[in-house]
Amino acid sequence: MAFFERLPSATAAAQSVLPDRSAGPGRVLAAVDRIEGSRWADSLITSLRGIVRLMPSGTRDVLHGTWLGHPVHPALVQLPIGTWTSAALLDLIPGRGKGAGALIAVGVASAAPAAVAGFADWAELRKPQARVGLVHAAANSAAIVLYTASVVSRIRGRGLRGRGYAFAGLATASLGGALGGHLAYRQGAGVNHAEQVAAVVEPGWHLLGQLSEFPVGEPVQRVFSDVPVLVLRAADDTVQVMADRCSHMAGPLSEGEIIDGCVRCPWHGSLFRLSDGWNLEGPATAPQPVFETRVTAGRVTARLPEERKEL
Ligand code: FES
Repeated sequence: MAFFERLPSATAAAQSVLPDRSAGPGRVLAAVDRIEGSRWADSLITSLRGIVRLMPSGTRDVLHGTWLGHPVHPALVQLPIGTWTSAALLDLIPGRGKGAGALIAVGVASAAPAAVAGFADWAELRKPQARVGLVHAAANSAAIVLYTASVVSRIRGRGLRGRGYAFAGLATASLGGALGGHLAYRQGAGVNHAEQVAAVVEPGWHLLGQLSEFPVGEPVQRVFSDVPVLVLRAADDTVQVMADRCSHMAGPLSEGEIIDGCVRCPWHGSLFRLSDGWNLEGPATAPQPVFETRVTAGRVTARLPEERKEL
């Protein structure tokens, strides 16, 4: 129990729903929680982030998948995972070592762009996520080294050693993949943090307040159906309303800068168009939900577009 007392409050809250983590899968999760809370590599994380951020923002947006509407990294990892897994199956069949070696070489070559895209995403993560991400990257880098050694061994005619390296590489890459799953599914890295808005907001029109409560050109936060929204009044008294929690990592857009009909997130700089929520600049890869608005007798109301509610 002393372990939990040293962890952040979010993890301590998890303790109450996971009564026994001293055995089985609970031990594995506790080990990953330990990585989340460990600060030993924080200075390395800061340095590596600085290096990644030296890349032009346009290049990073390409790597994030802003243009695609989906993170690129999970798509790129399909090739190394597929080739390495297929090679393992071939390695179990006598006489198929050559084909396995070719697949492994393709996997090693294709791992490089996947790793670069992953690092671009990783540089924008919160510290607990970045700590797990660093171990994820280290495991996958070790797998690349093992697979490279496997290819070299096979070229030198040492097939048995090449198989050994390949199976060690698969085990290491599987560990890296499991940590990547933890990052995405448990820690919420790379997911759309605005996706739940359509499910949570009650149907129909919601009162935001009197028009006079909203200064022209200044974003104001309001909350309805437990969903915070950004409200922006234009000089012609039209009003735009957008979900306030950024799709990237839930940053408060109402604290962001308004630029030419867009809002820039104060946390990592994603730029969203207020008229339709589109993410013009990353790291966000998903657009932001926007609301229909009307001003009637000086009262501002908003609702989700019907087609969005059906989603
Ligand atoms: S929270 Fe990261 S860009 Fe908004």
